[in-house]
Amino acid sequence: MQFNYMLELLLAGLTYFILKIIYRLYFHPLSKFPGPKLAASTHLFEFYHDVVRHGKFLWEIEKMHFEYGTHEHHRFRRGLLNKLFSKKSVHELAPMMESTLRKLAFHFEEAYKRGTVICLDDAFTALTADIISYYSYGESLDFLEADDFKGEFREAAFELLSFLHINRFFPYIIPTLQLLPHWVACKVRPKMTALFEFQNTVVQHSLRSIHETTTTNEGITKPSKRGIVFETLNHPSVPAPERTLQRLQDEGTILLVAGTEVVARALTIAMFHLNWDKSLLRKLRSELVQVMPTPSSSVNCSELEQLPYLTGVVNEAMRHTYSMMRLPRVARTEQLKYEKYIIPAGTPVSMSSHFVHMDPNLFPEPETFKPERWVIAAEKKENLTKFIVSFTRGSRACIGMHLTYVELYQAIAILARRFDIELYECSIDDMRFVRDIGLGYPEKGNLTIRARVTGIVQQ
Ligand code: HEM
Ligand SMILES: *[C@@H]1O[C@H](CO)[C@@H](O)[C@H](O)[C@H]1NC(C)=O
Ligand SMILES: *[C@@H]1O[C@H](CO)[C@@H](O)[C@H](O)[C@H]1NC(C)=O
Ligand SMILES: *[C@@H]1O[C@H](CO)[C@@H](O)[C@H](O)[C@H]1NC(C)=O
Repeated sequence: MQFNYMLELLLAGLTYFILKIIYRLYFHPLSKFPGPKLAASTHLFEFYHDVVRHGKFLWEIEKMHFEYGTHEHHRFRRGLLNKLFSKKSVHELAPMMESTLRKLAFHFEEAYKRGTVICLDDAFTALTADIISYYSYGESLDFLEADDFKGEFREAAFELLSFLHINRFFPYIIPTLQLLPHWVACKVRPKMTALFEFQNTVVQHSLRSIHETTTTNEGITKPSKRGIVFETLNHPSVPAPERTLQRLQDEGTILLVAGTEVVARALTIAMFHLNWDKSLLRKLRSELVQVMPTPSSSVNCSELEQLPYLTGVVNEAMRHTYSMMRLPRVARTEQLKYEKYIIPAGTPVSMSSHFVHMDPNLFPEPETFKPERWVIAAEKKENLTKFIVSFTRGSRACIGMHLTYVELYQAIAILARRFDIELYECSIDDMRFVRDIGLGYPEKGNLTIRARVTGIVQQ
């Protein structure tokens, strides 16, 4: 009797406790506030951090501010990096990029001597990966040192892209595969190996960056000078919860993935068209002679940017290089009006850049690579640049825009001034992007463009 009574009391207590948690999590007026569910439902969270860990709850609150104040948080994180990727900072790094480009030029010379075929997209991926890794880590991944330019890197990027559409509908597949022990995941999906290798590279660099510190004469510990990006993210003035290994890894991964494949694609597209229709290359070269008196003259970005035809080539390359994905924007507090339709506040709105860049009203014969359209627009003082939305706009727009332009201006100038190449087993169909896998792909296979170097310009 006594025992039953106790049990009932206990059950009633437990039911009350559970109902209260459900109420707090789902029906309480404050339940929509972001934060850990444990903290919202009971005082155990606070008890643990303040009582068991002796007064540490305040720092948990600091962490939560970072984790749950997402919009402001993005602004904060972005603010740390904005200056590093400004036009001014990027121009200061132009000499480093130029010396990386000289390594690429060396491969072209070798290919000329040996008569070998170069895979341009692989070569350009190695170039852009070496540049962004140096920018981030202070040391290059040195893909240009390898003869075939290969690394785990591209395979990893392809692996991620191959999940793109599936991921939209089944967002748990990749996280689940990543939770499995690596050898199991690789059995299920052998191509994951490259992804894990790539992640491992990033972890190694991040670890080194976080552990290498230098001590000044006054005994102050400072982060080592290991690449301006990591140095900035790891600076003691940045709040501690923002300086974790995970954070460095995440940022390192985003920069490497975002800063490599797309820029290489823009270069591939430019080099394809310049050599598919040689009259474009001839025009460009005669313009380049003005600022590069000899084929191996060093280049000056500010001067290159003034050249109308080169600018046309760069802009056409960017017009053909865009994410096909619809990247949404949300007007949080205002209604949007489109013709007679009202879009309520808070509705995500998106459109693919494809429909802007390939709009025949903006760019007649949109499929054709025509640098002249930019030269003519510039003469008429028309601003066509405002219709290039490859980097999108607004607070989440691409941070790497200025870096991209410097890479394109320099690489196109150096290669076009000096090398004659002949495309190898490709056709204009390779430039018809009819499949959307994040980026556009031709009907068959990857965007792979191979070429032979048939001459080196002597003067
Ligand atoms: C042809 C070259 C490039 C194209 C077409 C491109 C395109 C884009 C696009 C479409 C976005 C997403 C914008 C949105 O959500 O609306 C983005 C974001 C981003 N890109 Fe790029 N990108 C390029 C080069 C680079 C480079 C060289 C870097 C290296 C610094 C880079 C780093 C980033 C980062 C870090 C973000 C995330 C920005 C944020 O969320 O604040 N991108 N890019
Ligand atoms: C590049 O050219 C501009 C304009 O001609 C000049 O002002 C600048 O000093 C040059 N920069 C370098 C690094 O030579
Ligand atoms: C052209 O438009 C772009 C994008 O709106 C803007 O950033 C740029 O300053 C404009 N250029 C001129 C010359 O007005
Ligand atoms: C495309 O490239 C990836 C990465 O190099 C490779 O794994 C894949 O087999 C290629 N696909 C085709 C059809 O060539």
